[in-house]
Amino acid sequence: MKRSEINQSIEVAKEVFAAVGLHLPPFAYWTVEDWKSKGGEADEIRRAMLGWDVTDFGKGQFEEWGRTLFTLRNGYRREGGFLKCYAEKFILDPPNQKPPLHFHRSKMEDIINRGGGNILIRLFQATQDGKCSEERVKAQVDGMTHELDPGGIVRLEPGQSICLPPYLIHQFWGEQGTGIEVAGTQYTVSGEVSSVCDDWNDNCFLDPVERFPAIEEDEPRRHYLCNEYPAACE
Ligand SMILES: [Fe+2]
Repeated sequence: MKRSEINQSIEVAKEVFAAVGLHLPPFAYWTVEDWKSKGGEADEIRRAMLGWDVTDFGKGQFEEWGRTLFTLRNGYRREGGFLKCYAEKFILDPPNQKPPLHFHRSKMEDIINRGGGNILIRLFQATQDGKCSEERVKAQVDGMTHELDPGGIVRLEPGQSICLPPYLIHQFWGEQGTGIEVAGTQYTVSGEVSSVCDDWNDNCFLDPVERFPAIEEDEPRRHYLCNEYPAACE
């Protein structure tokens, strides 16, 4: 994907997150220049891959297939297991931009509508071999169990949340015609509160994708992505 798409989407995310009252920590604003003076004191940000995460899943159609996320906290594997066992993200949800259908073998996540418009979530139960089951789906929305047809869609209005346990295949996006308008597009924000998020090993996509795609450097990078941080300065 193009660096210009990444830069632009991060700027939109900053504006939309602020519009729904979500404040970001200082490292959200650190530039490439700022990182030159960061030493070992910022290692938690590097190791837990906190910060901006923008992907088109290698499909080259960012308006349809993509995600712009900000990871606020996450655990990572250390000797003896995970010290921090939880994670939190904010996600920008433009209308109709989807991540590919996927599930997690380990992570359990709650997706919370943090404001803007509505979020739509499509769900399938996964079979043992990681395909979409034809079984009906059970899902908890705000503590209430709902049953849906396979591939059924749940609508979350601001403040509502859904629990996605392991092996529940999901995909969510902002509902067309709802959301906060920035530069002619309407956006919603979802929050994710989960167990540790391991984006290298625990994302099971139904079709092959590149979670961290190659980037065409068509303009200067404004912020490092979570997988790009430079090593600590001496
Ligand atoms: Fe997920």
